[in-house]
Amino acid sequence: MTEALHEISLTVNGVVRQARVPGRRLLSDCLRHELGLTGTHVGCEHGVCGCCTVLLDGAPVRSCLTFAVTVDGHEITTVEGLAGPDGSLSPVQRAFSECHALQCGFCTPGFLCTATALLRDNPTPTDDEVVEGISGNLCRCTGYQNIVKAVHRAAELMGDEA
Ligand code: FES
Ligand code: FES
Repeated sequence: MTEALHEISLTVNGVVRQARVPGRRLLSDCLRHELGLTGTHVGCEHGVCGCCTVLLDGAPVRSCLTFAVTVDGHEITTVEGLAGPDGSLSPVQRAFSECHALQCGFCTPGFLCTATALLRDNPTPTDDEVVEGISGNLCRCTGYQNIVKAVHRAAELMGDEA
């Protein structure tokens, strides 16, 4: 028996996108395969590593734990949507680059989305708040210190731009 497909419509990075997906299609797979947005990475596929983090109506979620059909009609921001319309890097992206907060980069899209939401909600976090804020994202390479530095640097850059 062929699996029923569901028509869904999402606003992804400001653009309305349609997809036809089985009921159990993960949002991470829908973004990568149906919509071609491969910037969202998939690591553990069971909610542990945070690589697949995207923003759902502005809040960070693990797209590997989210069925695509459940976000029909919602707004998603992926790492591809963090830069400005002219391609200029967001303050968080600039800070990660400046502070060498990535090595292999596999975890980076998830950290960028998480840090973006963190700084929107708390523009001047303490060290503890940064550590707590990124605690749901795992990085196998950096040892986290430069990621913490980058979040503080992004806060500075955002403050300068305000
Ligand atoms: S791939 Fe989603 S949390 Fe690891
Ligand atoms: S930079 Fe390699 S896993 Fe984080």
